[in-house]
Amino acid sequence: MSGRVVLVTGGTRGIGLATAVALAGDGFHVVAVARRRSEAFAAASAGVSGGSLHFIPCDLGELDRLQQLVQTIRREHGPLYGLVANAAIGTPGLLATMPDAEIGRLVHLNTLSPMLLTKYAMRGMMAAGAGRIVTIASIIAFTGYNALSVYAATKASMIGFTRSLAREAGRLGVTVNAVAPGFVETEMTESMDEAQRERVAARSALRRLVAPEDVASAVAYLVSDKARNITGTVMTVDAGSTA
Ligand SMILES: NC(=O)c1ccc[n+]([C@@H]2O[C@H](COP(=O)([O-])OP(=O)(O)OC[C@H]3O[C@@H](n4cnc5c(N)ncnc54)[C@H](OP(=O)(O)O)[C@@H]3O)[C@@H](O)[C@H]2O)c1
Repeated sequence: MSGRVVLVTGGTRGIGLATAVALAGDGFHVVAVARRRSEAFAAASAGVSGGSLHFIPCDLGELDRLQQLVQTIRREHGPLYGLVANAAIGTPGLLATMPDAEIGRLVHLNTLSPMLLTKYAMRGMMAAGAGRIVTIASIIAFTGYNALSVYAATKASMIGFTRSLAREAGRLGVTVNAVAPGFVETEMTESMDEAQRERVAARSALRRLVAPEDVASAVAYLVSDKARNITGTVMTVDAGSTA
């Protein structure tokens, strides 16, 4: 076993997979958690050099499994140095007609689950006097977007959580930061048609969409030693959409 251990939730596709690959490339021992191991993840883990990439299946919506998940990682992989709280769902819906259960599912997986997972993951980091927590927000937390009010609320909650937790964890050597991506081409945004993609790209300063690897680079930087004095920040990666 070598390399400091970083847990990446939702590390099997999209932004999470790109992040897991980037961190493994930087020498970390990465544990990806999702419900299913994807083919893309299997291919990526076979090709990693530097660190390593591992998978543990877990439905992060099952809150009573989160403490045990952290204990399993510690036992099987070693003490956690970092957590990238990335897994989320992006279910759209107009608030006036959105089923209550759907609203509950969004808040449950995007807000409650990462808070509880962070609680259990950070205890070991605080005891060790070092660690990295990165949450994944969204520019929609600042800009708003039609039919994404509940999703936007969950992403805005991650920003308040991140800033306050940075205050609590800083004195024990743990940094806590958020990354706020713009629109990224992943399964979450696959329902967008070509015209919508072009509109998003046209609104950005750089006239293009963000790739998962762009977000992954920002996360990898915040996890790295180079970011040792950065905490409580939100790093926007949106090709200048909000510039
Ligand atoms: N794509 C964008 O444009 C965009 C923009 C701004 C912010 N973001 C944020 O970036 C993050 C990643 O988004 P993405 O686009 O990469 O999403 P994605 O392609 O849909 O991937 C989501 C990941 O989360 C996992 N996941 C979903 N539900 C889970 C559950 N109940 N338990 C465990 N794992 C679960 C999925 O694996 P399984 O389904 O196998 O569980 C998958 O690995 C999210 O926080 C999202 O809000 C995305």
